[in-house]
Amino acid sequence: MRIHHEKLPEITRYLESQGNKLEDKEGQYQNYLSLIRKVHPVDANTRILEVGTGTGWFPLLCKLRGLSCKGLEISPQLIESAFEIGKAYGIEPDIELGNLEDTDLGREKYDVVVAVCVFEHVERWRSGLEKLAACLKPGGVFLFISTNKFFIGHNEYPWRFYGWLPNWLRYRFRIWKVGPEVMKLGIDFNQFRHSQLKKAFRKVGFRRILDRIDVTNPEDVSSPLKRRILTICKSLGPVGKLALTFADTTFFVCVK
Ligand SMILES: C[S@@+](CC[C@H](N)C(=O)[O-])C[C@H]1O[C@@H](n2cnc3c(N)ncnc32)[C@H](O)[C@@H]1O
Repeated sequence: MRIHHEKLPEITRYLESQGNKLEDKEGQYQNYLSLIRKVHPVDANTRILEVGTGTGWFPLLCKLRGLSCKGLEISPQLIESAFEIGKAYGIEPDIELGNLEDTDLGREKYDVVVAVCVFEHVERWRSGLEKLAACLKPGGVFLFISTNKFFIGHNEYPWRFYGWLPNWLRYRFRIWKVGPEVMKLGIDFNQFRHSQLKKAFRKVGFRRILDRIDVTNPEDVSSPLKRRILTICKSLGPVGKLALTFADTTFFVCVK
């Protein structure tokens, strides 16, 4: 992957699908913080890095709330949009232009790294993962959410079983649907599996790897049926594994 300075149709489409009101992201913001706080405190001294900032809502909300969050983003078009949104709130985001695959993020600099809906778009994702693990301090937290190959619904493309397609066929299909520019940025290079990611996280040095079942407390689930299912998944390993295989996302909170 490389940085493209021209406007890309896939990014223009993405921007059109996103709102520019930070208030609308409040729930998601609180959700990320509460997940991170399960394993690490977060306050004004916590150094946070978000990779793949999209419209910039997360670093912007952090800044509004007195938290320190730097961003790394490969799209100049999206960085420009983040500055525009920030202007409406009288703040500037701290977002650096760069490709996660080859940007030096330093060593043991951050307490928290957030990468949500990003790794599926990173072509050399293992190289990116190594960089992220290295830039976290010991005890630091990595919040990761991405695609799940065997999800039966749809996330990257409005088509059931889309993620099940082999990479080459998915790429060809997307090029046929929207044109070759999708391969510059926007394509899901990767559809992940939980077991594959767990191994990769362990390899780069994470010592606690918590999946969605591990981090969800049954008492926080309001639906009695879902609470029952979660309790079963927690106590019966193979059932939990089966549920994760078909879940809508891959979702991890990792501690270095
Ligand atoms: C689907 S958006 C998600 C944005 C944001 N994390 C969110 O959840 O709203 C994916 C973002 O990752 C960025 N991205 C993709 N590949 C990247 C890379 N190699 N390095 C840095 N950012 C990248 C894209 O430009 C885009 O902003």
